[in-house]
Amino acid sequence: MSLHIFADGDRLSEGLAEWIVGNMLLTLQAKERYSFVLSGGSTPKALYHVLSEKYASAVDWNKVDFFWGDERYVPFDDERNNARMAYSCLLAPLKIPEQNIHPIPTNRGPRECADDYEKLLKNYFEGEEARFDLVLLGMGDDGHTLSLFPGSDLISTRDAQWVKDAFNVKEQLPRITLMPSIVNLAHSCVFLLQGAAKAETLYSVLKGSYQPDVYPTQLIRPQDGRLYWFLDEAAAANL
Ligand code: 6PG
Repeated sequence: MSLHIFADGDRLSEGLAEWIVGNMLLTLQAKERYSFVLSGGSTPKALYHVLSEKYASAVDWNKVDFFWGDERYVPFDDERNNARMAYSCLLAPLKIPEQNIHPIPTNRGPRECADDYEKLLKNYFEGEEARFDLVLLGMGDDGHTLSLFPGSDLISTRDAQWVKDAFNVKEQLPRITLMPSIVNLAHSCVFLLQGAAKAETLYSVLKGSYQPDVYPTQLIRPQDGRLYWFLDEAAAANL
């Protein structure tokens, strides 16, 4: 695990954008395509802006395939839709070809949409190892990541499914989420956290005992990849 701590949110976004582009360039020297799982939440917006404004011509974006870690069960035009946010801040400005963009569907029942996304991923990785190059993750103040919330049944599930539907009690809304079974196969998992509201939980996640039922973020432990934490000083204050 490696920690990267920046003075403030702007420097954090700049620092992670630079790291991501470096990782893309290195990876694309050895293979043809780069798979990038985007996260929702509000923190990555600034990162997406930096990537699209500063690095538009630094990478051959046509070689990057985009996926999502989780999605609210709302249509694409709903402002709570994670894919919608990424389209407006990152994918549209970079003119990413539609065939590179793989949003989580919300056009059937939540369970069916989870199954459809699982099929899409199986298809994408057919004939090769199912390893995303980069999974970008956030952490809620309560210790959730993806749509894995404290106390959720999904935390102890032992089946091997990569994508599941989940009901978020707080929002009273179904969600569709990647599971640790696929995320932990990635080459790199990167958490992006900003702000003092995350500091206490982050301390428990990193320094406390392993209690994934309380802190689902602890489920993210890449098997054969690397785990990075990109933090601002406020989020890292208790470490
Ligand atoms: C989502 C993700 C969630 C998110 C965290 C952090 O909301 O799409 O499920 O895991 O990354 O809640 O969100 P903030 O960046 O808004 O703090």
